[in-house]
Amino acid sequence: MRIVILKDDLAVAEFGANYIIESINKKPNTVLGLATGSTPIRLYEKMMIANQTKRVCFKKVTTFNLDEYLGLAVGHPQSYRYFMDHRLFNHIDIDKENTFVPNGASDNPIADCTHYEEYLREKGGVDLQLLGIGSNGHIGFNEPGSSLASRTHIAVLSKETISANKRFFSVGESQPHLSITMGIGTILESREIMLIATGANKAEAIKNTIEGPVSSSCPASILQMHPYVTIVMDEEAAKSLRN
Ligand code: F6R
Repeated sequence: MRIVILKDDLAVAEFGANYIIESINKKPNTVLGLATGSTPIRLYEKMMIANQTKRVCFKKVTTFNLDEYLGLAVGHPQSYRYFMDHRLFNHIDIDKENTFVPNGASDNPIADCTHYEEYLREKGGVDLQLLGIGSNGHIGFNEPGSSLASRTHIAVLSKETISANKRFFSVGESQPHLSITMGIGTILESREIMLIATGANKAEAIKNTIEGPVSSSCPASILQMHPYVTIVMDEEAAKSLRN
């Protein structure tokens, strides 16, 4: 596990974006695994600028997002498909046909989970998976207690996650309690993983991920078992680490 500690969230975004850009420049048909949430927003902005200034081309890139809320209508502004379109895909030269996000409006989400795994396999699997981390140590929507071998599945969000994500929904708006998420087993099949974390509210989860025992009580701790993981964080998120 490679640990990178940088001054602030801007430096994390810069490092993360450059890392992804270099991977694409080495392998133009890279399969990227992507995350949503507030942490990668600036990183995506930097990738957008890099594309517009011709430092990187996404024409041959395929993307698979980690997760999606279950039960939001297509085009809902809080859906992760909407987030990805508006924060990244609409502004770069990627072919939208090559961008996969679980279908949260599906009539048959169980079958869709199986199809998602099939698409992933057909595309050759994820080369580089970008992850954020929940303050409870979740990755994707794999909450504490999730199976460390799980595949793409329907997951119940924890109270902590529902409350952390409340800020994105307007007052009185109903907030989904279910999601479709890549499983931990699916995530671990990525050839390489980069997790980014910023802010003091991630410090405990980062400590448990890096220094704790491998345990489903902190799902991200399973990353200790993967041979190619880079964890990039700012000083605030690193503040509970021993050294
Ligand atoms: C979202 C995802 C989640 C987030 C995590 C952190 O696609 O996979 O695991 O990475 O909830 O979210 P932020 O970045 O908003 O703190």
